[in-house]
Amino acid sequence: MAERRVYKHIARFYDLIDLPFEYGRYQPIRRMLFEGISGAILDAGVGTGRNMAFYPAGGRAIGIDLSPHMLAKAEKRRAELGVDVDLRRMNVTKTDFPDDHFDFVIATFLFCVLDDDLQSPALSELRRICRPDGEIRLLEYTYSEDPRRRFIMRLWAPWVRLAYGAAFDRHVERYVEGAGLRLIEERFVYEDIIKLLVLRRDR
Ligand SMILES: C[S@@+](CC[C@H](N)C(=O)[O-])C[C@H]1O[C@@H](n2cnc3c(N)ncnc32)[C@H](O)[C@@H]1O
Repeated sequence: MAERRVYKHIARFYDLIDLPFEYGRYQPIRRMLFEGISGAILDAGVGTGRNMAFYPAGGRAIGIDLSPHMLAKAEKRRAELGVDVDLRRMNVTKTDFPDDHFDFVIATFLFCVLDDDLQSPALSELRRICRPDGEIRLLEYTYSEDPRRRFIMRLWAPWVRLAYGAAFDRHVERYVEGAGLRLIEERFVYEDIIKLLVLRRDR
């Protein structure tokens, strides 16, 4: 799979390359994302484990990722932070979890790396493993409406594609209804380029 190849090469440098964004943008958003979360938690596309520091005490967290190289980094972070999380290699479009397993499913910057044909299968799978009264929270990039910022993002796009296999215009919200989910909240959490999407099961 293309993602696996991309992350094999980038895993070693991922945290370093992302450092300015992590501290300039992501940390407060990650903290906010985990507010009010408890019970069985899935961190889908856990990457190098950047969300770990914000997992709630007493929650039962599982992190999955397709890339063994990213998981190795996450394992190191897990040990350093002493966080209680079970890390497993799995594809988000076809996990091994039973139906209705998680109270909360978190995916930060995962759908921006999934190609268009994987958006719907990934959402359907998250719906299947989330409890009927559970919640799915996503953080995703989107192109700015501001022409200057949008232009800069367009200049960045080829690098982002090459380095992370990611794109700013995946529009995951377009696939929500078809996957049997309901968008209960959608708002920008960093300027007009990073969005929080909160989803619930529709049926
Ligand atoms: C941009 S990184 C985000 C990592 C982390 N969530 C964060 O916020 O820093 C995307 C991650 O998704 C993983 N990934 C890509 N496709 C996947 C798939 N089909 N199933 C599970 N993980 C996948 C990649 O290996 C990578 O670790």
